[in-house]
Order: sequence, then C-alpha cells, then structure tokens
Amino acid sequence: MGDPDAGLSFGALLRGWRKRALLTQEQLAERAGLNVRTVRRLENDGLGQPRTASIVLLARALALDRGERALLAAATRAPSAPAAAAAPGPPATVPRQLPADVAALEGRGRELAIVAGHRSATTVPVVSITGMAGTGKTALAVHAAHRLAPQYPDGQLFVDLHGHDRAAAPVEPGAALARVLGAFGVPGEQVPARLDDRAALYRSVLAGRRVLIVLDDATGEQQVQPLLPGCPDCRVIVTSRRGLVCPGDARDLSLDVLPVADAVALFVRMAGRERVAGTPPVVLAETVRRCGLLPLAIRVAAARLRAHPSWDVRHLLGRLAADRLAELRAGRHSVAAALDLSYERLPADHRRAYRLLGSCVRAEFGLDVAAVLLDTTAARAGGLLARLLDAHLLQEPAPGRYRFHGLVREHATELRRRTWVPLTWVARSAESNIALFHDIAGIYSGVE
Ligand SMILES: Nc1ncnc2c1ncn2[C@@H]1O[C@H](COP(=O)(O)OP(=O)(O)O)[C@@H](O)[C@H]1O
Ligand SMILES: [Mg+2]
Repeated sequence: MGDPDAGLSFGALLRGWRKRALLTQEQLAERAGLNVRTVRRLENDGLGQPRTASIVLLARALALDRGERALLAAATRAPSAPAAAAAPGPPATVPRQLPADVAALEGRGRELAIVAGHRSATTVPVVSITGMAGTGKTALAVHAAHRLAPQYPDGQLFVDLHGHDRAAAPVEPGAALARVLGAFGVPGEQVPARLDDRAALYRSVLAGRRVLIVLDDATGEQQVQPLLPGCPDCRVIVTSRRGLVCPGDARDLSLDVLPVADAVALFVRMAGRERVAGTPPVVLAETVRRCGLLPLAIRVAAARLRAHPSWDVRHLLGRLAADRLAELRAGRHSVAAALDLSYERLPADHRRAYRLLGSCVRAEFGLDVAAVLLDTTAARAGGLLARLLDAHLLQEPAPGRYRFHGLVREHATELRRRTWVPLTWVARSAESNIALFHDIAGIYSGVE
C-alpha cells in the first residue's frame, strides 16, 4: 500500500531502478543482453507490450527482489500495457520434437522402468543413459520419451548435441539454447547474447511448465548443464558415450549390450521372419554373438542379409567369422566408423594405450598387467584406463578388473595394424617383472 513505486508506469519503474543501480541505459542493456534501443523505448513506455523475456532479463540485471518483480509485472498489465504480454501464459507453439520411435524396442524392460520411473520431489529429475557406441541409448531414450510424453503436455524437446557425429561438430550449449527458446516462440532478437542469460531465460520460460527434454549424444557436463531446467515439473533424459556427472537429482544408467534372446529377436525382426525361417536357433544365437550382442552391429548384419537375397544366415555367420568389422558396414551404418568417433576424441597417449591394450589382451586384466604392457607406473596406467572407461571403450566388470568388448578389441587391433608401434619394450618389461610374465604370456597375443 505504502509502496512509493506503486502506480508508476513500467517505464518509470525501470528508469528509477536503473538509476538506483547507478547504471546508464547502455550499461543496463549490456548487462541484460538487450539492445540499448529496447531499453530506451521501454523506459519511455514506447513498447506497447514489454516481452516476458525482456522483463525477466531486466529484473535479473537490476537484481530486483520478489516484490519489485511483482510490481514490474503488474505495471505491464496496467491499462497502458495489454495484460497478455506479462503473464507467461501458454506458449505460442507447443514443441513436439521427438523423432519416430523404434518399431518395437526389444527387451530393455528393466532399463525402461528406470528411465520412466525416476522421480524427484524437489528438483528436476535427470536420467543419463551412458554406454558404448550402438548399444541403443538413443533408441531407449526416444522410446521412454514417447511413453512419458502424455505427462508432459507443455512440450517435448529433442536436442541432438552431436557429441559423436562425423557430419557435425558438437553443438555449443548457447546455440542449443537459442534453438530451444525459438521452439517456445521466443524470437531470435529476444535471445540474449550471453550464455548464462540465455540459460536463465530458458529456465524462466520452462518455469511452471511440464516439459520433457531429451538431450541426445552429449559430449560432457558442460554441454548439458545450461540445458537443465530448474523446476521439478520438467524431466530430462540425457544420452552420452561418456560418463556424465549431472547435478540435481540425477540417475545414471549404464546401458550394456542385449541379452542373447533379445538380440536374436532384434535380428529376426530386422532381417525379416521369412529370411530366417528354418535357421536353427543355435545358428541365430551364434550370429548375434558374433555381433557382440551390440544392437547397432545386429542391425547392420541383418541389413547385409537383406541386401543379399542369395545369402542365408549360415553364410552370413561364415562371413562374420572371417572379418567382423569389415562385414559390419551397411550404407551409412558402420560399427567401425562408430568406434572411430570415440577413439578420435581421445588424447594421443590414450589412443596409444587403447591400440596396445585392446589388441594385446584377450581376457580380463588388472592394473598391474596394463602397467607392464604400457611400460608405465600403475598410477599412470590407472589414469589412462579411467579415460578409456569414461569413453565406454573399456569395461570394468569387477572393481579393478578390466576387459574390452570383442568388437572393440578388433577395432583396436585394426588400428594397431595401421599404426606401427615398436614392441621391444615388451621383452624388457617382462624381464624386469618376472612375476607378471606368466600372466602376460597368457593374455598376450600377436607379438609383432
Ligand atoms: N532394444 C532395441 N530394440 C530395437 N532396436 C534397437 C534396440 N536398441 C537399439 N536398437 C537399434 O539399434 C541401432 C543402434 O541404436 P542407437 O540407439 O542408435 O545406439 P546409440 O545411441 O547407443 O549409439 C538403432 O538403429 C536402434 O534403433
Ligand atoms: Mg545415439
């Protein structure tokens, strides 16, 4: 009641608070990420309907408290400014960006329950699905999102962050925010210049709305963080080949390859029932095992079969026994190319470690063996292995025990064939560490 500012116009309020903050119009525009002309016209009440986006940015730049924000919002609803502009209201467009679901998701019942069932009462629920190339992270995320969509009537966003894509560089978070704001009807000229202002506007736009956000193929936290909304009414599903440490109430789901039965079902569906009719179950099981139970590999193998009407599954299996990676290419889908992208993201010494270890060790191994093969200390070897684990090029089936997926081993072997590495150190290291010699001899293959 006694507020001296009550009853002032939007422009008068703004001018008063700007002066209180000892800012020029230029400085306020800069701080808010707005055009100085916009600030000037707002102060003169010359913009009929101040945009919600602008109000949020100005309030933030002027560090207005809750009461002042309410006053500012009320001023936009005063007779001189039409009410519709101030209230967040329903967005002009409700984005429905989910790509098509897989025709039928094979297996993954447990994983789906985790993704769809994760909840948080206090903050935005985030599930990050991580795993090696081609395990079906995107397929699972998209399927779960379609299932969850009815609970998120204010929109479903799908942002491909291109973390591992030959055709496109990883998307900058600022660019992703601009696109998402555009999807909610924020015009390009209203999108602030600075990343944190963009993120703040994004959170403001999503506040009070129920929106589902899928962030596909992230490279790391720094790409994901600005795209996390602040409210518990939204939900986020992230996929990545890298381990992510998401803040908030995050649940990490590490996605493994498929169980044999689901892998066979996927192969049969992709190849077509008529093409596999009469094939003994053991041949089908062996075929998907040769694909490493990896959905991408199974899909490609099935596509190869379809592309060659004269082949039967046994013939395909024979070819897979000869050179799997060469066989597992069809059109733009290729297991080797998918692994290449993970490999190329590694620093040089980690690439060397990948080539050496991946091509040398067959069974599970420990840190001591890795250190000897890499001719380095256990601490340094541990650091190298940690990065390979993070990239999902290596697995840790038990604490301190490591192993490579079969297709990954072949990929590393192929790379080493192309990249000659002197191996004289192997004899030297083994000599100096007789205790490990038998271990290494047992798991070591293909000395050049
Ligand atoms: N459980 C599944 N059921 C049916 N198809 C699947 C399944 N998992 C993966 N796929 C298919 O296998 C291929 C690779 O999966 P994708 O989700 O692209 O892997 P990622 O995102 O982990 O690299 C895609 O064509 C996908 O549709
Ligand atoms: Mg993917």
